[in-house]
Amino acid sequence: MVTTPVDAGTTMGNATNGQALYANRGCNGCHGMNGEGSASGPNITGNMTAGIGAWTQAEFNKAIREGVGKDGMMFCTNMPRTPSLNDTQLGDLFAFLKSKDSTSTERGPANCR
Ligand code: HEC
Repeated sequence: MVTTPVDAGTTMGNATNGQALYANRGCNGCHGMNGEGSASGPNITGNMTAGIGAWTQAEFNKAIREGVGKDGMMFCTNMPRTPSLNDTQLGDLFAFLKSKDSTSTERGPANCR
């Protein structure tokens, strides 16, 4: 079992559970099997520049539940809002993504921000 600390000291995400959730929720359809991104969605791996390596758990939760990015701007509607995910599930998803690394910079459709 792989556990990764997210936000030192507050929550511990389970990357294995996160991987299952990532596939079950269809995130891979737009963000690729390992968060590397595709023509339908940006890189969301733990890469510090191309991905979300510099994001906090709180920023990640807001993005998934409310569709608001790290910069405070609303995402385009291509990115689904998923308010139903609880803190544990979001911790697991974040741990999975942070365990991945890719420098791909595809950001998706031109009309999407
Ligand atoms: C139908 C395609 C689609 C699906 C499914 C999808 N996303 Fe996205 N996602 C996008 C697009 C497009 C953006 C960029 C939105 C923007 O910048 O306006 C995005 C943005 C993001 C971002 C912010 C990335 C950044 O650098 O700003 C995160 C984090 C994210 N998605 C996570 C997820 C997770 C986790 C799931 C599964 C629960 C998911 N997405 C499902 C299309 C999708």
